[in-house]
Amino acid sequence: MSEPLRVLITGAAGQIAYSLLYSIAKGDVFGANQPIALHLLDIEVMNNVLNGVVMELQDCALPLLKEVIATHEYPKAFKDVDVAILVGAMPRREGMERKDLLKANVKIFKGQGEALNQYAKKTAKILVVGNPANTNCFICRKYAPSIPSENFTCLTRLDQNRAQGQIAQKLKESNVLVSSLDVSNVTIWGNHSSTQYPDVNHAVVNIQGKAVPAREAVKDDNYLDGAFIETVQKRGAAVIAARKLSSAMSAAKAICDHMRDWWTGTAAGQWVSMGVVSDGSYATETGLVFSFPVNISGGAWSIVQGLSISDKAKERIGITLNELVEEKNDAVAVCSD
Ligand code: NAI
Repeated sequence: MSEPLRVLITGAAGQIAYSLLYSIAKGDVFGANQPIALHLLDIEVMNNVLNGVVMELQDCALPLLKEVIATHEYPKAFKDVDVAILVGAMPRREGMERKDLLKANVKIFKGQGEALNQYAKKTAKILVVGNPANTNCFICRKYAPSIPSENFTCLTRLDQNRAQGQIAQKLKESNVLVSSLDVSNVTIWGNHSSTQYPDVNHAVVNIQGKAVPAREAVKDDNYLDGAFIETVQKRGAAVIAARKLSSAMSAAKAICDHMRDWWTGTAAGQWVSMGVVSDGSYATETGLVFSFPVNISGGAWSIVQGLSISDKAKERIGITLNELVEEKNDAVAVCSD
């Protein structure tokens, strides 16, 4: 067996981590032969809760889990990590705007960027989950200049999974029985926020072995250009309104999907959505962390090029781009205070 992969999870005493740790420690993400060392970081007041999580991990009796380091100290948490899943942040409560969150959270990600820069392996792959995820990732990368830009990503896979789920549900109404996994090449453009653009213009549904364009399968452009987009954009808020807590089980699943695909690659002809550092593709601002369609091979992602973008789609991409530019400017100002 190989050396353990050192996987840092921040916010390890929180609700997303509670759903996430088991899947990672049991081999669902990095493979059934890959030993794991978990580095669990939370804030000091959560030490007792974190100890309880460590006890449960021991009690799971997982053969791949070789070591657990639970701490509130950055030098121990970030030391030599191969993967950093940065979940810990203040969660959005009902009625709370993302802007309120931004101030509180970007400073955390400045500190964690500096810690990655100082302690993590230079090859570390980083996934930012804590909101505002794109902008936190932007700040994290800014303060970790010794790690390559392409190693920084943020989570928009939950939005992609939500979009696939909505299309599968819609098709059930006309007795076309497919699962979310039969829907591919939906793209989430931009920010993990209500301005994101879930785009089905290149999406495909596998119906009994035949690849059918999503618009042709759904046969309802009004829905796809209206209620579908709004439902996906506001799904996070709908879950909060119902549960009084933000999405956790589905977020953990999406984190696993994101990391597994980054590790093992995307299927031929299929792409997934990830927030990555923009190279200016699709008229976006270079350097912003923007969600794009990406292909992944050999552990490296590349933005899918050459997709046709309608005027309406350009307009929607522009809206989410403007929001990200504004967030970035606010975040840079907060961090230089
Ligand atoms: P939670 O409140 O249950 O857990 C967060 C944990 O982070 C807590 O244990 C807290 O003590 C810890 N924490 C706070 N500051 C920290 C720091 N500086 N270092 C380490 N740990 C710290 O929240 P939950 O539900 O687990 O959500 C975590 C984050 O994920 C939130 O920001 C939420 O908005 C975001 N989220 C993002 C999604 C996405 O698709 N990008 C989806 C769902 C949630």
